[in-house]
Amino acid sequence: MARKIIIDTDPGQDDAVAILLALASPELELLGITCVAGNVPLELTAKNARIVCELAGRPETRVFAGCDAPLSRKLVTAEHVHGKTGLDGLTLPDPTMPLQDRHAVDFLIDTLRAEPAGTVTLCPIGPLTNIATAMQRAPDIIPRIQEIVLMGGGYFEGGNITPAAEFNIYVDPEAAKIVFDAKVPLVVMPLDVTHKALTSRARVEGFRNAGRVGPAVASWTDFFERFDKEKYGSEGAPLHDPCTIAYLIKPDLFTGRHINVEIETGSDLTLGMTVADWWRVSGRAPNAHFMGGIDDEGFFALLTERLARL
Ligand code: BDR
Ligand code: CA
Repeated sequence: MARKIIIDTDPGQDDAVAILLALASPELELLGITCVAGNVPLELTAKNARIVCELAGRPETRVFAGCDAPLSRKLVTAEHVHGKTGLDGLTLPDPTMPLQDRHAVDFLIDTLRAEPAGTVTLCPIGPLTNIATAMQRAPDIIPRIQEIVLMGGGYFEGGNITPAAEFNIYVDPEAAKIVFDAKVPLVVMPLDVTHKALTSRARVEGFRNAGRVGPAVASWTDFFERFDKEKYGSEGAPLHDPCTIAYLIKPDLFTGRHINVEIETGSDLTLGMTVADWWRVSGRAPNAHFMGGIDDEGFFALLTERLARL
């Protein structure tokens, strides 16, 4: 039986690839996509998610708009990485499929209450505002969540939006703290993993030839590569968000440790840092499976093979 998931997202080119990977994979049943403000404002993330579903030929996918700002801070966006639209690259048609008229947080709560306990996995790949809001508003849903598999944080790699913090956690650290403290089975794909999932010319050309979504995916990676190559001096750019979906399909591609991870919410200097007790020196109870390694060849092979199915 396919595993039921909800993707919580702020597309974003790498979010878009994660959505496509989920839609292409029979191991997963995508119950809905909940959008949040992050890489670009909510109006654009909710639009981009629908563009991606239509590109995949899956306009029946339910897309919900959620929170338009972090719990208690001003929204920080990342147009400098993803472009003005959030999905710069090949220009795709505006979506015609509707946005659902329920709020994303209500959809999360209703779904977790309606489905049997322990059967719905959440895959947040943007700031954690929607998930934390649902947990605050309806704490009864927390023990019903099967697992949360999120992209966020970084430890040995440091941060990408500040020296200490990764973007998704930095944008809404209070929300991240709620999620990391929730005592839900939690898998974290930090920069330590995603910075090893780098595009290369051969990998991008592999995407370009991968069926009907291929040219768009290649144009997205071509677009954000420019920024990342300059920043990191690397040969390619990290494909962050699809790591979460790949983990659900093929967990053996990844290695990590079950450790304690705390979120910094107090210090201006290190706001949004994921303080990961990798060496288990704090004595604090483990709360996350914090990943550190990836079989990058296997990851790109899986991604290319699945995208070609759409
Ligand atoms: C994360 O931030 C966003 O820009 C990407 O979509 C990804 O979710 C990487 O730090
Ligand atoms: Ca994202």
